[in-house]
Amino acid sequence: MLLKIHYLDEANAREIAKWNYDPPYDFYNLNPKEIEQNIQYFLDFQNNFYGIFAEPRKFIGYCSFGKDGQVPGGNYSTPGLDIGMGICPNLTGHGRGRCYAATVLNFAQQMFAPVIVRVTIAAFNQRALQVWYGVGFHCVDTFEHQYLGVPFVILVRETDHVSKAEW
Ligand SMILES: CC(C)(COP(=O)(O)OP(=O)(O)OC[C@H]1O[C@@H](n2cnc3c(N)ncnc32)[C@H](O)[C@@H]1OP(=O)(O)O)[C@@H](O)C(=O)NCCC(=O)NCCS
Repeated sequence: MLLKIHYLDEANAREIAKWNYDPPYDFYNLNPKEIEQNIQYFLDFQNNFYGIFAEPRKFIGYCSFGKDGQVPGGNYSTPGLDIGMGICPNLTGHGRGRCYAATVLNFAQQMFAPVIVRVTIAAFNQRALQVWYGVGFHCVDTFEHQYLGVPFVILVRETDHVSKAEW
């Protein structure tokens, strides 16, 4: 599947704000009372949100780079580019997670040239963990969310030797 990454428009942002995952992934559902605030958040350039599109322009998910990918309570004292990612609920679980992650990592490399890339994943989310392990990340820390008490895992990978063939 050929994927492209570029800026989100308001319709894309509105779609994300209304996504509805089935349990246990409903953890990622956003508050329906805060749709407009969330749309503004996604569209704010400072938050570095981008859309993932299947050719020609089918919006299938988003990725984010920087603080948005950090979770309260985590230790982010070492340098690293934090990555967030979410795929439209009806496209999840179809075995394409590594393909999405590889596309996002290539884009991150072109845009930000990080030495270290980092993701923070809820420990229950084995599906997401498998994806990031599958593209070469490894666990460096675990912690509990500062407000929710939910366990999270921080994973990193060095990018100097990133090559598409490895994925
Ligand atoms: C996380 C996400 C990007 C993964 O993409 P996906 O296309 O749904 O993932 P896949 O279907 O490729 O599944 C990934 C792997 O997890 C495995 N898996 C699926 N459900 C699983 C479960 N309950 N327990 C263990 N492994 C599971 C799959 O078999 C697959 O393994 P493989 O790569 O060895 O074949 C997507 O599900 C998503 O956006 N989810 C909602 C948001 C989210 O979870 N965010 C977390 C931060 S990335």
